[in-house]
Amino acid sequence: MCGVIGAVSHEQVGQLLVDGLQRLEYRGYDSAGVVTVSEKGLARLREVGKVRALNQSMQKSPLFGQCGLAHTRWATHGKPTQTNAHPHVSRDSVAVVHNGIIDNCDAIREELLADGYVFASETDTEVIAHAFHQAYGETKDAILALRQTCDRLHGTYAFGLVLRDEPGKLWAACHGSPLVVGIGDQAHYIASDMVALASLTSRYIYLEDGDSVVMTQDHLQIFNKRNQPVTRELHELSLSVGQTSKGEYRHHMLKEIHEQPEVIKNTLAGRLTQEDVLASLFPEEAMTMLEGIDRVQIVACGTSYNAGMVASYWFESIAGIPCQVEIASEYRYRHHVVKDNALFLTISQSGETADTIAALKHAQMFGYQATVTVCNAANSALARLSDYVLLTQAGVEIGVASTKAFTTQLTVLLLLVLGMGQQRQCEGLNVIKQGLALLPESVEKLLDLASQIEPIAQWLSHYQHALYLGRHTCYPIAQEGALKLKEISYIHAEAYPAGELKHGPLALVDENMPIIILAPNDGMIDKLLANVQEVAARGGHLVVLTDAPERFAKSQNTRIIPMPAIMPALVPLLYTVPLQLLAYDVATVLGTDVDQPRNLAKSVTVE
Ligand code: G6P
Repeated sequence: MCGVIGAVSHEQVGQLLVDGLQRLEYRGYDSAGVVTVSEKGLARLREVGKVRALNQSMQKSPLFGQCGLAHTRWATHGKPTQTNAHPHVSRDSVAVVHNGIIDNCDAIREELLADGYVFASETDTEVIAHAFHQAYGETKDAILALRQTCDRLHGTYAFGLVLRDEPGKLWAACHGSPLVVGIGDQAHYIASDMVALASLTSRYIYLEDGDSVVMTQDHLQIFNKRNQPVTRELHELSLSVGQTSKGEYRHHMLKEIHEQPEVIKNTLAGRLTQEDVLASLFPEEAMTMLEGIDRVQIVACGTSYNAGMVASYWFESIAGIPCQVEIASEYRYRHHVVKDNALFLTISQSGETADTIAALKHAQMFGYQATVTVCNAANSALARLSDYVLLTQAGVEIGVASTKAFTTQLTVLLLLVLGMGQQRQCEGLNVIKQGLALLPESVEKLLDLASQIEPIAQWLSHYQHALYLGRHTCYPIAQEGALKLKEISYIHAEAYPAGELKHGPLALVDENMPIIILAPNDGMIDKLLANVQEVAARGGHLVVLTDAPERFAKSQNTRIIPMPAIMPALVPLLYTVPLQLLAYDVATVLGTDVDQPRNLAKSVTVE
């Protein structure tokens, strides 16, 4: 969603800010803008569409100044137009960029209108600019005015602010939306995520909820929500340009699919011990708590929810622990009956998804034994709010459609299930551990399927709809496959447990409805064969992923993707990969924007 970057430096910042926006493009956006401040005042450029349009405007009319802000906007309040694009300005003297949603913006707008302020946009952000202008006019003290402005806002925000009359200073504040401060060489930066600052610094401070900050090129002062000066921990993190570039690949998504063997290996490193798996995942004091857990509640959104669905099958079948899964936006708005000894588990790639954070805060009212998050971002809000963090080692994921984050989530979740199974002396764990140790290699081999998947993708790209079917853990993997296809190719795709076919979706089946069936050779394959016949009898076209191709009648309406035989516990991890490749290939045939699909955002930081 919206991306924020700001800089105050000993050198010109205009181009540096636009370059930073390019690194934020992956978050998803529909317009972009930049403002600089110099002795001549504020200078601003805004464009609808891609950052490259803003870059072109910068080439034609460069912005000068050693301090400034830039923003990619994902429209919430008001259409994606130039006037709604950030930065927003109050009376030519205050400029603001903002990520988040101001819930009480209508009420503040009414008050400001009554006080004579004129609004140029439909955005909630503009109230921040005018409210600050008003408070600064009254107090003549920018830090105090910033605090008064924040106290007036309800909702979530991470915003940066510059003043015409103070060209060497930058202010920022956050509440409920992440903001990182970068420490440079005679420069300070702000950004909504550290990827924006990748080539500028490796020293970061993560602001806490309610913090505000003022910075010059040499000085930095942070205040807490009570306006007391505070210090926050400095982190050294080197994010190489290689981690955020496409390298030899055509798209980030393809690179990330191919990185899976390596990141799964990194995620397993040091954790897959013959002794106690949990000891490698948690601090000592968590062991007794986990031993007493009788049930697990998982909450997540999007792809992470699909990972949670797979984990719920694993918790019950491998570790014998009852497990429920719920979409975060549903969980957060209902009452819950929580029995004793329940564990609350969130899953999130970014750790910043607004609904998942709200669900965690909601859960904290219901007496769970502990909260754990499976997350790819060590310093994210979810990681900070949870009792324990299980980090995935996916590295930076740029493609909006999640791939390597998903398979590393599954890897960590399986480790957790194995660990809790060990505590409960469950059987069959060692075999799974042995298979898991070989998983990076197994996934590597699967990538060779690409040449067999390409012609199937060519064929699939001619359809408007697709159905995905699976049973047991293959049902959530079918959901994930359908999600990938719709996200990046815009083909309508739905997933069903195969047994539900006759309860509705069969009505849709004809020669225009391709069906993708996940059919591992396990105890359910006979049931799936029955489903296949139901589809074939109605002229439906099938793509079957299976390690038992001989069981499926050869016909021109059936296309097989041959899978290796694998133990049931690892089926979801393996069957994901060809579905990712299939969606990717269909999207490239159709020529869609694979890495930044329309209307979608990588981090959904607003409700
Ligand atoms: C967005 C992304 C998805 C992601 C979902 C949940 O919709 O486009 O790829 O699965 O958010 O994000 P999270 O960071 O919580 O895993």
